[in-house]
Amino acid sequence: MNIIIKDLCKIYRGKITAIKDLSLDIGPGMFGLLGPNGAGKTTLMRILATLVQPTSGVARVGNYLVNDPHEKWQIKAMLGYLPQELVLYGNLSAYEFLDFIAALKKVGGYRERHRHVEHVLELTGLQSVAKQFIRTYSGGMKRRVGIAQALLGNPKVLIVDEPTVGLDPQERVRFRNLLVRLANERLVLLSTHIIEDIAQTCLHTAVMHQGELIFHGRVTELINQARSKVWVVEATDFQLTSDMILATSTPTTNGIKYRVLANEQPHPKAQSAEPEIEEGYLWLMNTAGHYVGTGMALQI
Ligand SMILES: Nc1ncnc2c1ncn2[C@@H]1O[C@H](COP(=O)(O)OP(=O)(O)O)[C@@H](O)[C@H]1O
Ligand SMILES: [Mg+2]
Repeated sequence: MNIIIKDLCKIYRGKITAIKDLSLDIGPGMFGLLGPNGAGKTTLMRILATLVQPTSGVARVGNYLVNDPHEKWQIKAMLGYLPQELVLYGNLSAYEFLDFIAALKKVGGYRERHRHVEHVLELTGLQSVAKQFIRTYSGGMKRRVGIAQALLGNPKVLIVDEPTVGLDPQERVRFRNLLVRLANERLVLLSTHIIEDIAQTCLHTAVMHQGELIFHGRVTELINQARSKVWVVEATDFQLTSDMILATSTPTTNGIKYRVLANEQPHPKAQSAEPEIEEGYLWLMNTAGHYVGTGMALQI
């Protein structure tokens, strides 16, 4: 199963460009779509889920075109989607909710449907709480109900939009592991603005910014964007200047240890260091011309 996107554009109401000339091929397994808020990730996912029409260009899920009025039903039948803002019915149990959605999706007859609901509850680790009201669940459990509903009908493609936002660290780790497991058997497209999500789960990633694709490749290549640009310096007379990007500043017993990104050694005492994925991302944004020379910690 593949997703192929060619020269895709989406302009809302004739004036807001959300996606600009985007071309991207996504293969089986787990794929991470990274980008700051407003980059166009949700728009792209909604186009792939056939919920939004592209303005121009082509997107294919498997052999089917998203904007073909007939083929889009084939896509709907093989695609599960967890939207960024999923509304759950708090007064239903997970079991009742999933059974309801499965009935809407016309998953088999009564018995087959119930077996299938049991199956997705098991996959998402919700069996023991399946009879409790959803409103009593933690954020992570609610997110797993969201994945469970997306898995109804056993889709070959699973699209999850910012699923780890608001989860506590334990829930986040658990949720990531679940996605990795699910990606064994299907294409999982994960969008996030949290770099750590991608670092822990994906081999391949793409980075969007202001509707454009600014990177597509292995996670290791993203890290390599900052190779030989990372410097560690701990010196009282160190000054940040506009040609540097501050990645982190950590208090130490002697003062502050800075990790900065710069083309040249920023201080005689600065030592070169191995890049982290965040630093690859920051340098990428910098070289894409979006954040040149802020000399400040970047919010992503
Ligand atoms: N329904 C819409 N109508 C108009 N503009 C929209 C709509 N949805 C998104 N946008 C705009 O498109 C751009 C991309 O948004 P979005 O796809 O939600 O990005 P992301 O998910 O990366 O935060 C933003 O500028 C956003 O304001
Ligand atoms: Mg979004």
